[in-house]
Amino acid sequence: MRIDLPLAVASFVLALSGPVFAGPGEDLAAAQKCSKCHTAKTTKKGPSWASVAEKYAGKADASDKLFVYLKTGGKMSDDDDHKKVEATDADIKALVAVVLASR
Ligand code: HEC
Repeated sequence: MRIDLPLAVASFVLALSGPVFAGPGEDLAAAQKCSKCHTAKTTKKGPSWASVAEKYAGKADASDKLFVYLKTGGKMSDDDDHKKVEATDADIKALVAVVLASR
């Protein structure tokens, strides 16, 4: 499913305006159906956001790594490709921030 342009632009502007708005990352997670396989706290098909945040806790390159993973649809441990996120870089960063803040 594609995000319509006004929404993408609006969330881009929100993402630029800083962490006061927690919205764009969460909206994107919903729009991209991440919740089919992930929830904040429980393991579904994929790991919970909390366990991902735990795994990357204290790693300086965590957000860069996850950004690339989601942008390019990185390899999973069973060698399948993870879902690629079709969104602006700023939106993907906002999404990564939501995941990493879920601890
Ligand atoms: C079809 C199921 C599925 C969907 C949809 C999905 N994921 Fe995942 N995701 C997985 C699985 C399975 C893993 C575990 C990968 C592995 O085994 O290495 C994973 C892993 C991850 C990780 C951890 C990567 C790491 O390096 O540990 C993040 C972050 C993540 N997903 C974010 C997302 C986001 C954000 C979305 C929505 C855009 C999403 N996923 C949609 C199944 C899914």
